[in-house]
Amino acid sequence: MDQQVKQIKVWDVPVRLFHWSLVLGFVLAYVSAEVGILDAHVLIGYFLIGLLVFRVLWGFIGTQYSRFHSFIFSPTETMDYVRAIRAGHPAHYYGHNPAGALMVFGLLALLAAIFASGLVTLAVIDFEGPLLFLANQVSDETSYFFRHAHDFFVDVALLMIPLHLLGVISGSIQHKENLARSMVTGMKKMVMPDSANQ
Ligand code: HEM
Ligand code: HEM
Repeated sequence: MDQQVKQIKVWDVPVRLFHWSLVLGFVLAYVSAEVGILDAHVLIGYFLIGLLVFRVLWGFIGTQYSRFHSFIFSPTETMDYVRAIRAGHPAHYYGHNPAGALMVFGLLALLAAIFASGLVTLAVIDFEGPLLFLANQVSDETSYFFRHAHDFFVDVALLMIPLHLLGVISGSIQHKENLARSMVTGMKKMVMPDSANQ
């Protein structure tokens, strides 16, 4: 049967800008911390916090596929999707699929934990920032706990990011579409009429 290939707009400009600014910001935050330029690190940190706050708002008021409720799936649907991946015939989703959605929520939560622990570290170790009032309310031990928590959350992110990329690559192969390019152009292909699109 003849297939007609159309393009459908999935990722709006704010989501794409958010994603690639986040990637760049994450790299810059990491490098600035490693080389010890704290002023730059904190500035980039504030920028990333702004990005995350924006993305959370956009998850409620943005366009169809950027809204959180478009990618909240039940545990049953998620398990069915994972089983279908293993069987080699997962359903196609225009927005995040159930496995991708889990990773997205995990990454967003982890970023929130990195930012919160970074802000507390800034207050209790470097005596700066909006949470400075915490400085004389915590012991040295607690201060270093937050400092280590910040490091720990970054390490977890360094494990999750390769898994995120693995998901993007395997999803691209299984559905014969370039998901990374879609995050640049915003478009996905809609194959009609006989593919199982959702
Ligand atoms: C994705 C974002 C971030 C990444 C990847 C990141 C990464 C890191 C890393 C790897 C260190 C440890 C450096 C070392 O052990 O030598 C560090 C330290 C630190 N980060 Fe972050 N960070 C991020 C966001 C933030 C934010 C949002 C803030 C606060 C606004 C912040 C404040 C700090 C502070 C105060 C330190 C401790 C510096 C010191 O020892 O005095 N970070 N960060
Ligand atoms: C060059 C490296 C990267 C590529 C190629 C990439 C690619 C992608 C793609 C294709 C999606 C959409 C997945 C889908 O179709 O369901 C996505 C979503 C996402 N990625 Fe990445 N990613 C990269 C790095 C990162 C990094 C470093 C982070 C976190 C620090 C990250 C966080 C996210 C988040 C939070 C989303 C959800 C976007 C949203 O709905 O707002 N990505 N990524």
